[in-house]
Amino acid sequence: MSNAHAVEIDGLVKLYGGTRALDGVSLTVGEGEIVVLLGLSGSGKSTLLRHINKLDVPTEGHIRVLGEDVASLRGKGLRHLRSRIGVVFQQFELVGSLSVLENVLTGTLARLSGPRLGTWMYPKELRTAALGHLDRVGLAGREHQRSDTLSGGQQQRVAIARALMQSPEILLADEPVASLDPESSQQVMDLIREIGRERGLTVLCSLHQVELAMSWGDRLVGLRAGKVVLDTPASGVDRDSVMQIYSAVAPGVPAELAALDATVPHLRQAVS
Ligand SMILES: Nc1ncnc2c1ncn2[C@@H]1O[C@H](COP(=O)(O)OP(=O)(O)OP(=O)(O)O)[C@@H](O)[C@H]1O
Ligand SMILES: [Mg+2]
Repeated sequence: MSNAHAVEIDGLVKLYGGTRALDGVSLTVGEGEIVVLLGLSGSGKSTLLRHINKLDVPTEGHIRVLGEDVASLRGKGLRHLRSRIGVVFQQFELVGSLSVLENVLTGTLARLSGPRLGTWMYPKELRTAALGHLDRVGLAGREHQRSDTLSGGQQQRVAIARALMQSPEILLADEPVASLDPESSQQVMDLIREIGRERGLTVLCSLHQVELAMSWGDRLVGLRAGKVVLDTPASGVDRDSVMQIYSAVAPGVPAELAALDATVPHLRQAVS
C-alpha cells in the first residue's frame, strides 16, 4: 500500500429534495486500501459510491479521485476517470442472452469505438485477456455458456472479470453479494479481496453482513443517516463497536435486530 490517496472526500453533502442522503462526509482512502462501507438501509452507502465516479454530483463538498477533481471533469476527462474505476453491482448487470465471453468483453467498450456484434469483432488480444480473466475468476471453459444459465455466484464472477478488462485502479462494489447465498458470498468476497491485493486495487465495497465485513476489509467505515460514525482498521475491532452503527438509528430497535434488518434484505421492510 502506498501513501498516495486514491479517494479524498471533503465535506460531502447530498440532498435529494428534503432528504440528506449524505451529511458532511469526509473520508480519505489510500491507494490499495480495502474498505468496507457498513450501515443500515438508507444510510447513504450507494449514494457515496455513486459520487466517486460522478454518477451523482454533490450538493456541497469536494471529491478528488486518482488525483482528479471530480466536479470539474466532463466528456473525455470524465470517461477517462471512469475507465480507471471498475464497478460491480448487486444484480451483476450482465446481458443474460449473451455468452460469458461477450459479457466480459463489454468491459472494454469504453476503449473501442463502434458497436460490436460478436466476440470475433474484438481484437484478438482483448479476447485473450478476457479468457485470462475468466480463468482467474474460476470460470475457464465457461466462455461460450449463456450468462443467464450461470448460478448467481458465477454471474458475479463474470461481472468481476468484466471489470478487470478495464485494468481498473479502483474497484467499487455496491453490495456485491446481497443476492447470493452465504457460501457463494464468501467465495466472491474472497475473490474480490485476492484480486484487489494482487493488483494493488483500491476497493470500496458496501456490505450488509457485519461478520463478513469484519473478517474481510482492511478498514471499516460505518455510515448512519449520511454521516460517518465509525472509521476503524478491521483488525482487532470488536463486534460491539461495529454494532453501534446500527443501534442509535432506530430508537427502540435493538442493535442486533437492526443489524439483522441490514443483513437480510427481505426483512428490512418488516423492521422499518
Ligand atoms: N435518486 C434518489 N432520489 C431521491 N432520494 C434518494 C435517491 N437516491 C438515494 N436517495 C435517498 O438517500 C438516502 C440514502 O440512500 P442510499 O441508497 O445511498 O442508501 P444505502 O445505504 O445504499 O441503502 P441500502 O442499504 O438500502 O442500499 C435514502 O434516504 C434514499 O431514499
Ligand atoms: Mg445501497
